Amino acid sequence: MATARKPTNPTSANGHAANGGTTNGGLATDDAIQIDSHLGGPEHRTLAEDVLDGLTRPFKELPPKHFYDARGAELFDRICELPEYYPTRTERGILDATAAEIATLTGAVELVELGSGTAAKTRVLLDALHRAGTLERYVPVDVTESMVRDCADELTLEYPGLRVHGVIGDFERHLDRVPPADGPRLVVFLGGTIGNFPPGSRRRFLRQIADLLGPRDHLLMGTDLVKDAGVLKDAYDDQQGVTAEFNRNVLHVLNRELDADFDPGDFDHVALFDDRHEWVEMRLRARREHTVTVGALELDVHFDAGEEMRTEISAKFTRPRLESDLDAAGLQLVRWLTDPEDLFALTLSRPSA
Ligand SMILES: C[S@@+](CC[C@H](N)C(=O)[O-])C[C@H]1O[C@@H](n2cnc3c(N)ncnc32)[C@H](O)[C@@H]1O
Repeated sequence: MATARKPTNPTSANGHAANGGTTNGGLATDDAIQIDSHLGGPEHRTLAEDVLDGLTRPFKELPPKHFYDARGAELFDRICELPEYYPTRTERGILDATAAEIATLTGAVELVELGSGTAAKTRVLLDALHRAGTLERYVPVDVTESMVRDCADELTLEYPGLRVHGVIGDFERHLDRVPPADGPRLVVFLGGTIGNFPPGSRRRFLRQIADLLGPRDHLLMGTDLVKDAGVLKDAYDDQQGVTAEFNRNVLHVLNRELDADFDPGDFDHVALFDDRHEWVEMRLRARREHTVTVGALELDVHFDAGEEMRTEISAKFTRPRLESDLDAAGLQLVRWLTDPEDLFALTLSRPSA
């Protein structure tokens, strides 16, 4: 783990004061931003372990967290703007309509965000907490280093007096590195990312999140809801092919990080709705029979023509399923917040009494 205080830099995006550091509502920027990085060597081992495990299974699979290098993060941002991709704008609309109520209910002085990305929608909550006069600290947790750093720079400028303690890490392994709470805490997990966990590990992960919460704290989680299969499929297979590029990006990551020789052009993007499990799957389908070498693992991986490798599941929820998952994690529902068409839901929950 490396801890880095943001260096004073008169020419940085924040920089308008020399030597004493920039100011931020009375706090020097050096004091306003702290970034802890828990990635590096061990993260590469995780990628290697995931790839060795996933590519030697009878049905090949790669976990979705490895999509998100800087290019993957950019592609995801473009997906959020696509007409077919309703979750982002719908979740944002729910936040617009309910953020003031959430701020009042939680009285949060700090917002901890898992998989924070660019924190675009988070600003709606930060605005509401800022207006309520309670907001003091934001703790973004994400695997994408550039996102956490950029966010810290931008938000300390946008919210005078805000402290940002960024955690660059894997939320499946590093939740214990989230700093202790400064006061009533709101943990947010937006974008439907919880749907990437299969049911068993989802409940285990929710229990780990619940461990971040004290009796006065809350969890706000965004989940995509079960709906027409055609709408779901289109959301993951857009006309412009941005989601296909995002899907193939994982092959670029493996080539770069593990010295693999995937030709992304050898794979087609596949999106399907599995109505038995009520989840969308993204897969990559080999266009021809071929063998890929993963140099760092001294591994040869054979693909038959038409063979599919799963790269993401994205579970879709119903209210009863979500309530039972929350209950299994020791959480009780406080508010069920949805849009007029019931496309997407935000759940506000707290530790069960
Ligand atoms: C689907 S995007 C959601 C981004 C943003 N929260 C939103 O709602 O638009 C998932 C985010 O989680 C991050 N992420 C995915 N897996 C992660 C993991 N295991 N640990 C930490 N961050 C992760 C990605 O880098 C990305 O920023």
